[in-house]
Amino acid sequence: MKLENKVAVITGGGSGIGQAIARKFSEEGASIVIMGRDKNRLEETAQKTGNDTLIVTGDVTKMADLDRLYKESSDQFGKIDILVVNAGMATLAPFADVDEESFDFQTNVNFKAVFFTIQKSLSHLKHGASIVIISSIAQSRGFAGASVYGAAKAAIRALARTISVELCLERGIRANVISPGPIDTPGVEKLGVPQDQLSATKNSLREMVPLKRIGSPEEVATTALFLASNDSSFVVGEEIIVDGGVSNLQLA
Ligand SMILES: NC(=O)c1ccc[n+]([C@@H]2O[C@H](COP(=O)([O-])OP(=O)(O)OC[C@H]3O[C@@H](n4cnc5c(N)ncnc54)[C@H](OP(=O)(O)O)[C@@H]3O)[C@@H](O)[C@H]2O)c1
Repeated sequence: MKLENKVAVITGGGSGIGQAIARKFSEEGASIVIMGRDKNRLEETAQKTGNDTLIVTGDVTKMADLDRLYKESSDQFGKIDILVVNAGMATLAPFADVDEESFDFQTNVNFKAVFFTIQKSLSHLKHGASIVIISSIAQSRGFAGASVYGAAKAAIRALARTISVELCLERGIRANVISPGPIDTPGVEKLGVPQDQLSATKNSLREMVPLKRIGSPEEVATTALFLASNDSSFVVGEEIIVDGGVSNLQLA
């Protein structure tokens, strides 16, 4: 097992990619701390990950909730080996229609919360810890409707480089990024697409992928395992794209 005796904190661990990462890390022997706003979904994950799981109900955009996350985590498990900054969401809207409220909401969860989730973890991270940040291929490619989301995801990709410079030299902490393409999670249903257009949206996402399928959360989780474990000990400030070829292949 690759994560025996390790402690991993995963934000957004109650659903989709975060849940798959929690399950994978648990199978590999880690103790797990999962955070999200919906207690039921966190409990669902905990049923799959077993005894060594701590649930912290909270909102990553609230500083007091982040403080509580690290207090409860360190009370239960001590210092943290792995931090997966996964909580996030997308609301698609044409650039011209984005209002200040929607801009603030999306940048809060996808950028500001990521920044402070990491900053507030610092005194709880072990020397040599691994930070895995979930960005998106929208950080490097233009997708209609993703102006705020793409910019926020680009910001956290940049953040991984900067904090790696500071933290790796001082404390051996590596930060790396995963940028998924379309992945089959409940998140796709929260994009703001009307219910009767969802299956058409999923079909067009599938068609966009050179491998002609949407990825599974487990395919992101195996990449997260690589970045979280010593297998990636010489990988730092890097981005791994998990997108079935969307970013780099041009078919016909
Ligand atoms: N699915 C894709 O195609 C795809 C592609 C590229 C990138 N991503 C990224 O992958 C990450 C996971 O998304 P997913 O697809 O797995 O979506 P998901 O199934 O909707 O999961 C998102 C998770 O984030 C949590 N979350 C959202 N806002 C939160 C908040 N304010 N405080 C605490 N937790 C919060 C949610 O928990 P609660 O609702 O219980 O709070 C949920 O557990 C996101 O960062 C997303 O941008 C997804």
